[in-house]
Amino acid sequence: MELKHERVLVTSALIYANGPVHIGHIVEYIQTDIFVRFLRLIGRDVIYICGDDTHGTPIEINAQRQGVGPEELIGKYYKEHTRDFKSFRISFDNFYSTNSPENKRLSDMIFSRLKEAGHIYQKEIELTYCEHCRRFLPDRYVKGKCPRCGADEQYGDVCEKCNSTYEPADLIEPYCTVCKSRPVKKASNHYFFRLSSFSERLREWITSNDNLQQEIKNFVLNWIKEGLKDWCISRDGPYFGFRVPGEENKYYYVWLDAPIGYIASTENYCKGRDCSAMDYWESDRASIIHFIGKDIIYFHFLFWPAMLMGSGLALPESIVVHGFLNVAGEKMSKSRGTFFTAEEFANAISPELLRFYYASSLGPKMEDINLDFWDFQDRINNELVANIANFAYRVLSFANTRLESRLKACTIRESPLCNEHAACVEGIRHAYDDLDFRAAVRLILRLSSAGNKHFQDNAPWRLINEDAGKTQEVVSLCANLVKDIAIALSPIMPDFCSKLAAQLGQEGLSWDDMGISLGECTIPRAEIILRRLGDADMARLGVKRGSLWQA
Ligand code: 2FM
Ligand code: ZN
Repeated sequence: MELKHERVLVTSALIYANGPVHIGHIVEYIQTDIFVRFLRLIGRDVIYICGDDTHGTPIEINAQRQGVGPEELIGKYYKEHTRDFKSFRISFDNFYSTNSPENKRLSDMIFSRLKEAGHIYQKEIELTYCEHCRRFLPDRYVKGKCPRCGADEQYGDVCEKCNSTYEPADLIEPYCTVCKSRPVKKASNHYFFRLSSFSERLREWITSNDNLQQEIKNFVLNWIKEGLKDWCISRDGPYFGFRVPGEENKYYYVWLDAPIGYIASTENYCKGRDCSAMDYWESDRASIIHFIGKDIIYFHFLFWPAMLMGSGLALPESIVVHGFLNVAGEKMSKSRGTFFTAEEFANAISPELLRFYYASSLGPKMEDINLDFWDFQDRINNELVANIANFAYRVLSFANTRLESRLKACTIRESPLCNEHAACVEGIRHAYDDLDFRAAVRLILRLSSAGNKHFQDNAPWRLINEDAGKTQEVVSLCANLVKDIAIALSPIMPDFCSKLAAQLGQEGLSWDDMGISLGECTIPRAEIILRRLGDADMARLGVKRGSLWQA
């Protein structure tokens, strides 16, 4: 990806503080984290910004159901989320919350800038209201029979059976999902953002941006062509969020203050540091890259850039969209036993192995990825363990036991592995840069295979009886290759790679150390870092042969 600026700010979508992190969410955080770690490795000035998305009706209603205040609920999820992201080695520079003073101030600032510029107007609209609960009901809180096909138990916006879309008022026999009573229509005055007046500028911005994925550009441009509707950005109380200035009982819609949370988290990061949020968010000062899932394209390609345009702030230079996670070929499902929280996974299997598996599946396009547990086990055992981890252990333990741990200076560039090494290293760098992590993994495996072959072909266990000097050369060359693999794989498996590096007496390696000789040195004692995943390991996740998970 061509980045225009020296400073880089990368975000993942802010996660709702309304439930645990699951292994579907984790795809995005792993994808972003690999990219950020790669940028750090090549020496870019990058910060990784994220946080919890804390406002809205579902959080407010859930808190009420649990008999706690919304602050308490979001506080609990903040703790859980930070714990889970840490266990998956997601290296945020700041993980903050949209329910923060910074976000309140910035939301008010952006709202008033938009209002002053004439981008916001008020209009009375009819909404669905529950007289029993004394609240307006968002679409997801009204259910009834689909007006088109008659299917029972459909939400107020779309029928999951026949896919038709409609208004909650069209539902047959509608009811409030909270108290089951029949809702009524009620008028309310609301604030609208003139999205329609940004159509031309959005079209221009999307068309001219070479970083955006082409397939996404096409359908966003199509939305613009079909005509953008103005956007209702307020909600009536009771609501958990920020009150609209000058209003008694109206709040910003959660999707207004959620993306502003990216800026608020940046501001919070900069506190006590030598930077300010505006070093990033004022136009033309930094490269901003958002990573998102395909379900929130509309918000990030239309609403958000229009809000930024209307308030004179910087537009993202790129928005990377990934697909969804399927498990065993289908949408994750609690009833099929294919739903796992991040915590459940981490308690059973090392999270770095999932990082490796997801990386092996992620390409630059917006495609769904599939987690097949037997394929996962095969890849870990046959690629990661049999190829990379065994190569490292074979080489380093041989040096320990047969060469008194001594390596001699050698340069890959003057070795028989020179061409293969150069081709792989260059390819890996491009692959990371293009967000083609699948290709990066393939090339790292190819590099490791070349190392294994060199070791095998030279049979140092025999050679040592004839030529100790040559043996040391072969082993040292392979050890240098282990170092380069530890560098190349580190964005994907940071812990495994720092352990590998430590076995070579190295730490804090950067991309520039690639191909640079370890020199003449004595290395520490090697230990096995990774072992094969057996069926017993899989069983800890509830994945057993001959069951639902049959291989
Ligand atoms: O869809 C979601 O999960 C939202 N919580 C994402 C918000 S991203 C950003 F806009 F805050
Ligand atoms: Zn009700």
